[in-house]
Amino acid sequence: MPRPQRHVFVCSQQRPPGHPRGSCAAKGASPLLQAFWAELQKRQAFEQVAITYSGCLGPCDGGPNVVVYPEGTLYQGVTTADIPELFDSHLLGGTEVERLKADGATW
Ligand code: FES
Repeated sequence: MPRPQRHVFVCSQQRPPGHPRGSCAAKGASPLLQAFWAELQKRQAFEQVAITYSGCLGPCDGGPNVVVYPEGTLYQGVTTADIPELFDSHLLGGTEVERLKADGATW
């Protein structure tokens, strides 16, 4: 397997109902992850992009959270509607999606 140009980690952390930190899973992380994988499949971009689920990335309030390496870009409040733009702009194009980036105080 060639090393991908970019690696996407989608927080899929679950927590019990009522937990004070909430969780990305409660905010739609599972369908988001499935949609990332579907877009990867649609584009056949397996040599450029890897998609992996992860545990808590830290700033739970703004989830669902997604971090992209090697840049270490944290995207917050990501929805399935954002995925084509993330692929076009950042994952395959190299330009971060400014409107989804966490603010400097968060990340
Ligand atoms: S639960 Fe997703 S960042 Fe903490």
